[in-house]
Amino acid sequence: MTARDILRKIPGLTPAVRWTRSKLAPLAEANRAAGRVVINHGVGGTTPAFPLKPGVDTEQLAADIATRTWFHSFDFGNGIVAHGNDPSHDKTKFLGIPERLDGMSVLDIGTFDGHYAFEAARRGAADVLATDKFVWEWPGMTSRSNFEFVRDRLDLTVRDQVISVEDISPDTVGMFDVVFFFGVLYHSPDPLGYMKRVRSVTKKFALIETVVDMLNVDRPAMAYYPGAYLNNDASNFFGPNLPALEGLCKDAGFSRMEDLGLWRLHELELTRGEALPTGAPTSGRVVVKAWV
Ligand SMILES: C[S@@+](CC[C@H](N)C(=O)[O-])C[C@H]1O[C@@H](n2cnc3c(N)ncnc32)[C@H](O)[C@@H]1O
Repeated sequence: MTARDILRKIPGLTPAVRWTRSKLAPLAEANRAAGRVVINHGVGGTTPAFPLKPGVDTEQLAADIATRTWFHSFDFGNGIVAHGNDPSHDKTKFLGIPERLDGMSVLDIGTFDGHYAFEAARRGAADVLATDKFVWEWPGMTSRSNFEFVRDRLDLTVRDQVISVEDISPDTVGMFDVVFFFGVLYHSPDPLGYMKRVRSVTKKFALIETVVDMLNVDRPAMAYYPGAYLNNDASNFFGPNLPALEGLCKDAGFSRMEDLGLWRLHELELTRGEALPTGAPTSGRVVVKAWV
């Protein structure tokens, strides 16, 4: 007997489920019809292991990895993996990074341990600059040294620069065909100012991954996270909805924004079970592509 058969025997449960579905289905349908939420199903699968430099001692590598705390995850092959909280090799498929970047220049703003900068180099980018400030200078954080540790062992070339978003400009970093702005926008007390910085150094397009909120509001709107409201983290400030994000892109000087879709619901929403019954999430994380 299956679990479903057992549930069917509970008096009143089947009609109750049918009734609930009948009430919620039109809401979900209206939401889809309004085109409010695009779902990002990702392209490709988990990205492969990174190529090690010839001569790297893999036993020593595994031992050294274990002594560090990681945010990004790095698969170095042969079962040697740095496990961070960020599911980097899986997440890459949602980020809209072109399959090949041959000959292109790429800037990764807020690179942390550098996973996506190394991924750009692996995809053939001719010049990759990884920048960060916050976590690279935070006392006790190992992210800068993790970045250097990885770079010393990979057969990939990535430059680095310690610089805050507030100081990014063509004069300080140069101009890049492609700019990665993953996981940084919602950390800004001045989202439009940050987007203008991003636009100022972009030659072709920027890929922006961010928390979004108020997805059930049709007008451009941003949720404000005072203090440590979001994720108990005082470095989070604003979660825009899609019309607001598009407005930010355009007011920053991008010509158009392509919504690559929601790739993750907000953890808290999931925990509270808020978004799920109607199929209409109110917050989560999206990736958008902003064209010059
Ligand atoms: C959530 S992490 C995202 C890391 C990585 N880009 C990713 O998507 O996995 C936010 C990153 O932005 C950086 N960051 C936040 N505010 C910054 C600022 N004002 N200037 C420079 N970096 C900043 C942090 O140091 C951190 O590396």
